Amino acid sequence: METAEQLRATEPGEDLFAIKGIHHLEFYVGNAKQAAYYYRRALGFTLRGYLGPETGVKDRASYFVQQGKIRFILTTPLHPDSAIAEHIKMHGDGVRDIAFEVEDAAEAYRITTERGARGVMPPNVSSDHFGEVKTSTIATYGDTVHSFVERGSYSGFFLPNFVERTDDLAEGCGLKHVDHVVGNVDWNKMEETVNFYRDVFGFSRFVSFDDKDISTEYSALRSTVVANSNKWVKFPINEPAEGLKRSQIEEYVQFYKGAGVQHVAMESTNILETIAKMRANGVEFISVPEAYYSDLVERVGAIQEDVAELKALNILVDVDDKGYMLQIFTKPVEDRPTLFFEIIQRRGGESFGKGNFKALFEAIERDQAERGNL
Ligand code: FE2
Repeated sequence: METAEQLRATEPGEDLFAIKGIHHLEFYVGNAKQAAYYYRRALGFTLRGYLGPETGVKDRASYFVQQGKIRFILTTPLHPDSAIAEHIKMHGDGVRDIAFEVEDAAEAYRITTERGARGVMPPNVSSDHFGEVKTSTIATYGDTVHSFVERGSYSGFFLPNFVERTDDLAEGCGLKHVDHVVGNVDWNKMEETVNFYRDVFGFSRFVSFDDKDISTEYSALRSTVVANSNKWVKFPINEPAEGLKRSQIEEYVQFYKGAGVQHVAMESTNILETIAKMRANGVEFISVPEAYYSDLVERVGAIQEDVAELKALNILVDVDDKGYMLQIFTKPVEDRPTLFFEIIQRRGGESFGKGNFKALFEAIERDQAERGNL
C-alpha cells in the first residue's frame, strides 16, 4: 500500500501569469503589538517595519516581521467600525491575505477576475519617496484574499508607508521560507476550491489523499494539493470527511466561522536546532506518543537524524519515493482551535505528512493496548 502522497500532477496546468512567489502573509489580529512580541520572542521573527497613525495611516497598526524569506504583516484595527474589526469579530485572529509577488498586478487582476474570481480591490498604486508599488486583490475561500504585489523599481525595504524598525529582541530560530499554506474548506467544497485555482490561476492538481485512502479513516479529512508550475506556491486544500473521530476540519470551520487558513508550514534546514530553540522560547507543540518512535526506522528506513533526538523533541518523519521529510505542528496560536504552524525540513521528500496520520493513530492505539483499554 502506498503510504505517502507524491507531488505528482494528475492534472497538469500552466500558470496563466507569472507568480514570483509568496510576497507576504497578512494576519488580522486583536492586538498586533502583543502578537508581534510572540512572533519575535517565541517564533524567532525580527521586527523590521511599522505602519500606523505615526506614519500617516489612521485606521490601523501593522507590524512587519521577517525571518529568512518569510514576511508576515500583523495588523490590528484602531476603531470598531472597520472591515478589519469585523473580520476579527467573526474569525478571531487569522490569515487574511496570502499575497503573491507578480510582474504585473493589473494584468493578474484582469486575468483572474475575467476567469471568475471576485475582485476585492482593483489595481491601486501606493507610493512614498522610494517609488511606487502597484497592488490588487481578489477573494479566495472564505474571507481570505490573495493580493498581487508589483514592486517594479520600488527601492524601499518593504512596502510604502512602512517605516523601518530595528529589533534588538529577536533571536532567529532558523526558519527560511514558506513551504506550503493549507486552506480548510467546508463539507464538499474541496473540488470547487481546487477548480478555482485551476481555472483562475492555471495551477496544477496533485495526487493526495481521498475517500479510498486509509488515512481518511484516521484523520477524517480529504485533501488535494494545488501548486503553480515551479511549485513555489503549494496549497493543500482540506475538507471534512466521515471518519472514526469528528473531523478536525469540521471543528476548524465551526470555530473560524467558515473556510480559512489552517496552517502555514515554514521550512528549516536544521529542524532539530529550530525546535530546540522554539521549545526553549515556550512554543507549544502537539505531543507524540512514545510508541510512534518504536517502529520509526522500520517504517521510514534509514535517516540521518538520531531517533532519540527526534523523540525528545517530538518530531515526526514521513517518507515517499523521493526521500523523506521531518515535521512538527504547533498547537493553535490563538484560543480558538484554528490557525497553527508547521515546521518542516525536507530531505528530498515532497510529501505533506500523510503517513503520519496513520502512524500517530496506531501509536495511540498501542499505548491504549498497553493500558489494557483496547
Ligand atoms: Fe502541512
